[in-house]
Amino acid sequence: MTPVISKEEIEDRRIESIDMTVPSKPEYVGVIRLTVSGIANRMGFNVEEIEDIKVAVAEGCTNAIEHGLDDKFYINFNINNDSLDVVIKDKGKGCNIEEIKEPDLLNPKEGGLGLFIIKSLMDDVEFISKEGNGFQIKMIKYLGADI
Ligand SMILES: Nc1ncnc2c1ncn2[C@@H]1O[C@H](COP(=O)(O)OP(=O)(O)O)[C@@H](O)[C@H]1O
Ligand SMILES: [Mg+2]
Repeated sequence: MTPVISKEEIEDRRIESIDMTVPSKPEYVGVIRLTVSGIANRMGFNVEEIEDIKVAVAEGCTNAIEHGLDDKFYINFNINNDSLDVVIKDKGKGCNIEEIKEPDLLNPKEGGLGLFIIKSLMDDVEFISKEGNGFQIKMIKYLGADI
């Protein structure tokens, strides 16, 4: 039997979302940082959490700009009552996720740290990529998880 969901419960689980199409230019990363900072602040994340979200989102945008092949990329902020999830998508050639190497932190090199940083700063991270078909990353931060 399908459970009956009350109107209050539907309201309680409400998701609000903001979608943006952003020019693939590094100067727009700052605009997205400000945007996500405003959203996270409004949701009640603390200063450290907001800083982590800004860094992770900026890394995701930088990848979309660097590895994407289009002149724009897409970002979607989902405001849930217990979490913020951010999806960043580009129309680049994507990559084989299995071939992405974990950084060797004992012999650090420049580059290759973005995805590692995102995974360290966010609570849940998912990549979807089909070679030749763009890259999508979803990163989730839960409210109150870092106390
Ligand atoms: N948006 C993307 N499109 C295609 N490949 C990507 C994308 N983001 C990440 N990758 C792949 O994952 C690798 C690791 O990404 P990252 O950790 O950010 O390091 P960097 O961007 O410095 O190479 C990249 O070198 C690239 O092969
Ligand atoms: Mg990167």
